[in-house]
Amino acid sequence: MVKKVVIIGAGPGGYVCAIRAAQLGADVTIVDQADRPGGTCLNVGCIPSKNLLHASYQYYKANHHFEKLGISLKQLDINIEKLQTQKKQILDDLGQGIEFLFKKNNINFINSTAQLIGKNQVKTNDSVLNADAIIIATGSIPRTLSNIQIDESVVLSSAGALNLNSVPKTIAIIGGGYIGLELGSIWNRLGSKVHVIEALDNIIPGLDPDLSHALRVALEKQGFVFHLGAKIKAFKNEKSLAELTFEKNGSQETIKVEKVLVSVGRIPNTSGLNLEKIGIRTTQQGCIKVNEYFETAVPNVYAIGDVIDGPMLAHKAEEEGIAVAEYIFGLKSHVDYNVIPAVVYTQPEVASVGFTESQLQAANIPYKSSKFPFSANSRAKVTYETEGFVKLLSHQETGLVLGAHIIGSYAGTMIAQIVQAMSFRATVEDIARTCHAHPTYSEAVKEAAWAGFSKAIHS
Ligand code: NAI
Repeated sequence: MVKKVVIIGAGPGGYVCAIRAAQLGADVTIVDQADRPGGTCLNVGCIPSKNLLHASYQYYKANHHFEKLGISLKQLDINIEKLQTQKKQILDDLGQGIEFLFKKNNINFINSTAQLIGKNQVKTNDSVLNADAIIIATGSIPRTLSNIQIDESVVLSSAGALNLNSVPKTIAIIGGGYIGLELGSIWNRLGSKVHVIEALDNIIPGLDPDLSHALRVALEKQGFVFHLGAKIKAFKNEKSLAELTFEKNGSQETIKVEKVLVSVGRIPNTSGLNLEKIGIRTTQQGCIKVNEYFETAVPNVYAIGDVIDGPMLAHKAEEEGIAVAEYIFGLKSHVDYNVIPAVVYTQPEVASVGFTESQLQAANIPYKSSKFPFSANSRAKVTYETEGFVKLLSHQETGLVLGAHIIGSYAGTMIAQIVQAMSFRATVEDIARTCHAHPTYSEAVKEAAWAGFSKAIHS
């Protein structure tokens, strides 16, 4: 008998799950309150931010790097309206791409809110769907601050900060995490003065401290102003300006800015699903509790992605989407949480996978740290992108790769080879003795691997 699968939420977790379940023979319906599939990632997250990061970096390079290459521009200008129009076009194209995949796989997409009304039933605006399995993939929403209310005029959410139609003179970003630094990079490159107000002493919590420090130094060179260890004391929204007072190192400072971006984390999006009524349990942080098969306390109701515990990353949700579809069909599947990469798309990019040094120290695992700088990489040298380094952590005795932390241009692309190496339980010697094309940035990974079990060649 054909299995009926209903998925709530058509972000990267939900829509990938829908496709895999359909490939396995399920009759799939996916419901989303937005009229276009793709979720936060496509509509107000990963994709629009990467488009604006790309465009703003081209502008920044033309402004700051072209001269060195002998290229002079008579007049450089950026039309923000055009920038936003082409972004919208890309989002439309990609949204249609997902709709095409739904059609191709006979997946029924319903634009509606959805509510669980039983372990086998989901209620939409105008129907009740029966299901053998229900998957909750409703993602996350921005965490807000009670004293700084988002109005999307002066105080912006990440979605608002992606849709500005002019370059603000000044922006204060509350929270120096992924969103704050990526969106801050866009507007900084286009001409805004960016202040980052971060409660902790470091940017990007959880990141290897070497990378966090190197990223801060790089962004400061680009014009960012960081206020670390800062506590907000007062806030006034004066409609065309905002006034923020914060305390750091025992003294108070007040800044006046045109825009404020609140990027202090995200929380699971479960409101309106009716979870408690049908017996689904959540953690103190609001995440839906699931077992190793992503099943909630209610049999046949599953949850994946940002709405459950773990890093709120699109690719983690996709892995879980595939795994849960396979579990529903009784297949063996697996998500290896030790090798989920994380990338911050600033310039330089930052990419990490596996253990950090402090985690290895806490777990009493003997390790070796080996580093190679991009300043000694010939490709980085010819492109003037010599900032950063590759750092590999390997087991002291076996050489097994335990973690990798890269800061540099294309770090997000380079991390893939280490994720794969770790998945196949490679050692640093395995990576070092793998032929890497010359001249490429990836040779820095090979060199760091050589340093991990013997000596780097080019240092
Ligand atoms: P985040 O957790 O990365 O950073 C939030 C920052 O805000 C932290 O550094 C925290 O210490 C700080 N903070 C919290 N309360 C504060 C306060 N009252 N005053 C000052 N600072 C405060 O969260 P973010 O940047 O909002 O991103 C949310 C999630 O979205 C992340 O967990 C990330 O996984 C995901 N994301 C991933 C991206 C990627 O993969 N490149 C890009 C953007 C978002």
